[in-house]
Amino acid sequence: MNQPVLPNSLEGRDVAVHLHSQTNPRQMEENGPIVITRGEGIRVYDAAGKPYIDAMAGLWCASLGFANERLAAAASRQYAELGFYHTFFQRTLPGATELAEKLVDLTGMTGGKAYFATSGSEANETMVKLAWVYHTVRGKPTKRKVIARDRAFHGSTIAAASMCGLGFMHREFGLPLPGFLHTLCPDAYRGMLEGEDEAAFVERLARELESLILREGADSIAAFIAEPIHAGGGIILPPAGYFPRIQQILKKYDILFLDDEIVCGFGRTGEWFGKDTVGASPDMMALAKGLSSAYFPISAVVLAPAIYEAVKEFNKAGGNFGHGFTNSGHPVGVAVALEAIAIYEEMNIVEHVRAMGARLRGHFERIGRASPIVGQVRGAGLMLGIELVADKASRTPFDPHLQVGMAFDRIAYGNGLVARCMGDVLGFSPPLIVTESDVDEIAERCETSLHQLERQLGCLP
Ligand SMILES: Cc1ncc(COP(=O)(O)O)c(C=O)c1O
Repeated sequence: MNQPVLPNSLEGRDVAVHLHSQTNPRQMEENGPIVITRGEGIRVYDAAGKPYIDAMAGLWCASLGFANERLAAAASRQYAELGFYHTFFQRTLPGATELAEKLVDLTGMTGGKAYFATSGSEANETMVKLAWVYHTVRGKPTKRKVIARDRAFHGSTIAAASMCGLGFMHREFGLPLPGFLHTLCPDAYRGMLEGEDEAAFVERLARELESLILREGADSIAAFIAEPIHAGGGIILPPAGYFPRIQQILKKYDILFLDDEIVCGFGRTGEWFGKDTVGASPDMMALAKGLSSAYFPISAVVLAPAIYEAVKEFNKAGGNFGHGFTNSGHPVGVAVALEAIAIYEEMNIVEHVRAMGARLRGHFERIGRASPIVGQVRGAGLMLGIELVADKASRTPFDPHLQVGMAFDRIAYGNGLVARCMGDVLGFSPPLIVTESDVDEIAERCETSLHQLERQLGCLP
């Protein structure tokens, strides 16, 4: 990594022509890219042939690991039969029908419909547009604003980025757009006031949401969007009762609840969907990532019947639903997603994730008790976070300039473990196919890396 980047190497050529997502340009020019050449199960290999356990499943997405032959075969069969067709203008494809049936069934959105797109951002933006149609048809066209939460991640397109509650998604672009508002994040560890318990914290968050709605005017608010468990914001599982209480307020003011299941969906949290882990009942759900184990860029929105009825009503004079992506319902995407879901069902994904998640969490809690810098272990299923702190008793964070989380990532990487820091929260979201011995190995490498970090910080006894 710290070798000079030779201009005629792959690294040098990449630096010359390739602008990378979420990457510092200067560091990229100085150090060059990390080249990953192949995958096998939960491991990826770099250009020198060194294996890494990717305990983030890439970007929270490769639930079936990095070289699943059944997914490759499903894609290959479909490419040979029909490599592209679309779902505009009343066309459909057998796989798209079957996948829509499956998604409506799995999500429990009885009588609802599935809409296909190609990325999580597009799915989230589609939900916003559908919320606008819904309110317009019901005679409330002024209901346009969307409330999201601090530390939320909802994607990179303009509205999706506006819904993010993370400054690094806004600062270069003059976002959020007007009409995209934010309310408090339900992080009890950081957000509870002195003397407050979780129930009182939830009540304060609910009151804060209600005052935002009243300040802006309920007749201006279309929807509230939330991940059941914040992913990129630092693996934040809300306190018990949070979503039911928030939904009472949304109902009171006729505001739709949009559920971003892009990370949480398809078993990640130890339920098929994160909504069931946190007791939420959405009007629409955005699905991506685990939907195809990220082997094809496919996403979906599952919508309640009332939302569909609004689209139908709006177009009753003969117009078309004015929305669509070239690759909505792409035949290869739906074939891969159907195969991924078949595998999840065969491996009894929910039970498997609960068992492996409990094992990994048990390891992390033991490591945390022994470590002077682990403040909290949190999350659900195989979506776990470890928050590092300078002082456990007072929950005092490290000086951000120390970049302690980043230092952990670097050390772990050297130890053949890919984790992902979000500030000083270490994220773990391994492929869902992990076995007991994989989980033990992840924990062992995490513990070794943490000890190295503690030594580096001078805080090991
Ligand atoms: C919770 C959540 N929502 C939406 C997105 C955006 O998905 P995409 O990158 O496919 O647009 C992400 C991506 O990481 C995500 O974590």
